[in-house]
Amino acid sequence: MQKQPPNRSNPNPRLVSGKTRQEDAGLDTSLRPRLLNEFVGQERVKDNLIIAIRAALMREEPLDHVLLYGPPGLGKTTLGHIIAQEMNVNIRVTSGPAIERAGDMAAILTSLGKGDVLFIDEIHRLSRVVEEVLYPAMEDFFLSWMMGKGLAARAMNLRVNPFTLIGATTRYAMISPPLRDRFGSIFRLDFYDNKAMGQIVERSADILDVSVDKRGISEIASRSRGTPRVANRLLKRTRDYAQVMADGRITGKVCLQALDKLEIDSLGLDEVDHRLLRGLVEKFSGGPVGLHTLAASISEEADTIMDIYEPYLLQLGFLERTPRGRTATPRAYAHLGVEYAPDGFNAQQRLI
Ligand SMILES: Nc1ncnc2c1ncn2[C@@H]1O[C@H](COP(=O)(O)OP(=O)(O)OP(=O)(O)O)[C@@H](O)[C@H]1O
Ligand SMILES: [Mg+2]
Repeated sequence: MQKQPPNRSNPNPRLVSGKTRQEDAGLDTSLRPRLLNEFVGQERVKDNLIIAIRAALMREEPLDHVLLYGPPGLGKTTLGHIIAQEMNVNIRVTSGPAIERAGDMAAILTSLGKGDVLFIDEIHRLSRVVEEVLYPAMEDFFLSWMMGKGLAARAMNLRVNPFTLIGATTRYAMISPPLRDRFGSIFRLDFYDNKAMGQIVERSADILDVSVDKRGISEIASRSRGTPRVANRLLKRTRDYAQVMADGRITGKVCLQALDKLEIDSLGLDEVDHRLLRGLVEKFSGGPVGLHTLAASISEEADTIMDIYEPYLLQLGFLERTPRGRTATPRAYAHLGVEYAPDGFNAQQRLI
């Protein structure tokens, strides 16, 4: 499998760029659950983690390495911090593209204390040479790498303290099999259901000390794409709206007005989702069309579509990935209010 070259452009502009990034950074720290019992939803992952953490604590050993994957904003980083907290150890946070050379990886690993957690975000973007330093370290807590080049090259061998690697990624398929195989636990985070989203909105509203009624909670929850980070952002935006346009309380009515102004529709789809679906339906007769062609036609990055927009549209059953490209489903047509006529495309094809 080919590894993607390190891509320094922001793969996730809507969720982490510019003004939104600063806001989210502040929000993320104040609203982030600190312990497993504050972490709403993902019951299967939590149950397995509780057992693994308890067993490791009883044996007084570090927790086995954990790989967390799933779409952005579902709680991978949050869980990484929670695991360190529950194990009562320090956490070092870095990311795949930040570790450029084998020596950088070796320096990080030798600086870890006994049992510490090393959290590597975007772990699919580690380079091959850096990964190779990681393999023996993960297996036997042993480092072996070549320093220098050519005749001056020297082999370095070192022991490191036992540690727990927590890898996080939105692209599970891009993790090389040897790296994947060295994780003791691999967990996929799924979109949250409406009930869990409601609890998350309620919890965040409590922390932010805003009053939201039941209807407001359910509107925000159902329009947050099953994603806690989106819920927190919508809550903050509706709070602004309620403060300026009403009496500060987020009622169902205020909430609907605020979300309409933000162009968030009843399913949580925003302006970009609409452009994507409309582009697919109107310019490509519903597809199939290749991801890159589709992305170029609506002036978005293919990576952004794949990481941020597509997972939720797939989950809604609005998009399908076929070997020949993306297609829009009848459900997508219905949501856009466009008559489903995929045959138009086939008839055209036959004429050519
Ligand atoms: N289960 C949860 N319960 C309550 N809040 C949550 C939960 N999961 C995530 N959050 C909130 O959502 C925010 C985003 O989560 P987090 O940063 O952990 O996502 P991520 O999966 O690491 O995203 P990315 O792939 O973009 O790095 C957190 O700051 C936290 O406030
Ligand atoms: Mg993260």
